[in-house]
Amino acid sequence: MDEKGLERDEVLRILMDARRRDERYGGGRILGSMCTEPHWFAREVFSMFMDVNLGDAGLFPGTKALEREVVSALASLLGFKYASGFVVTGGSEANITALWAARNATGKRKVLLPETAHFSFDKACDILGLEKEVVGVDEEKRIRLEEVERRVDEETCAIIAVAGSTEYGSVDDLHGLARIARERETWLHVDAAFGGFVLPFLSELGYTSFSLPEEGVSTITIDPHKMGLAPIPCACLLFKDAEALRSVETPTPYLTEKTQHTLSGTRCGAAAAAAYAVLKLLGREGYREVVRVCMENTLALYQGVLELGFKARRPVLNILVFELPKELYRALTLKGWRLSRTRMGETRIVVMPHVTAKVVEDFLSDLAALQGEGG
Ligand SMILES: Cc1ncc(COP(=O)(O)O)c(C=O)c1O
Repeated sequence: MDEKGLERDEVLRILMDARRRDERYGGGRILGSMCTEPHWFAREVFSMFMDVNLGDAGLFPGTKALEREVVSALASLLGFKYASGFVVTGGSEANITALWAARNATGKRKVLLPETAHFSFDKACDILGLEKEVVGVDEEKRIRLEEVERRVDEETCAIIAVAGSTEYGSVDDLHGLARIARERETWLHVDAAFGGFVLPFLSELGYTSFSLPEEGVSTITIDPHKMGLAPIPCACLLFKDAEALRSVETPTPYLTEKTQHTLSGTRCGAAAAAAYAVLKLLGREGYREVVRVCMENTLALYQGVLELGFKARRPVLNILVFELPKELYRALTLKGWRLSRTRMGETRIVVMPHVTAKVVEDFLSDLAALQGEGG
């Protein structure tokens, strides 16, 4: 650190230079991210609550109540009854915490998870000393139930289900997995970090049918900072059984509340307040409209790439995966498009709210032009 401080304008100049090097969602070229520009209202609210520490919640009962409302609103969105939980920094922290609780509550160490599971589960297993068993997926990238059934045993502490996989948007058979979890008395964690804010609305719009099993799901991850339009860092971990939280309870003798159940100590109250603000402002109706537009744009993109002759997977939610020759991928990148690839090397586009109909049109037109040049 420098001995003397700089003038405000000088610091701002440095900051603006840094920001200019960053990509912007508003530019419409970021096609491989699960984040987007937060809602304008969430930005305002975030700055009002920036000093709130939910890790010392006795000092901030007002914001703590907002956090409780976020938890119960998201539980009701998903049809998850009797949930408790909290706001955390991201889907990774939520997933790690879920397995922390599962391990402590069951005293077991084996985790069954689909090939499509997010890499945060690798971190979780590493940190928690859990034994990871990867289960194969079917053509639609859904975990193979018969394989889960075969591999679940006395040592299994949790089964992971994905509701909206990071790469494909695929959704595991939650009812089938919940049945296995109930019969074999194991935990079932549902990772709906991305899909949680999409699937209930797609279901209402008639694109798919989504429902959570009444019994058998232990914990759920759902991230407002993805399709929930909340500022980073904001994810939620929901627990079916408040008692289960006890397994990760840590005494915090010198704070205003005597225990904590989160990995983070100091926690961002602004994240909870901003998520609350968007939930209240938009309501189900507002989010349904966001999802409707994203899905229409996804289907337009799907149609467009098919018409250009590329092989594509029919999208389940607002993620399109298709096969693109390496040269075209590179050429699109040189034109400024920020795409991403699946582990299998397919091209993946996440049609977030900043990926508008115009962006889709521009992308398809660039793709057609580059394809023409190549041919
Ligand atoms: C399904 C799923 N789970 C977990 C995560 C991790 O979330 P985060 O990056 O907020 O930690 C992601 C991130 O893309 C995800 O798609």
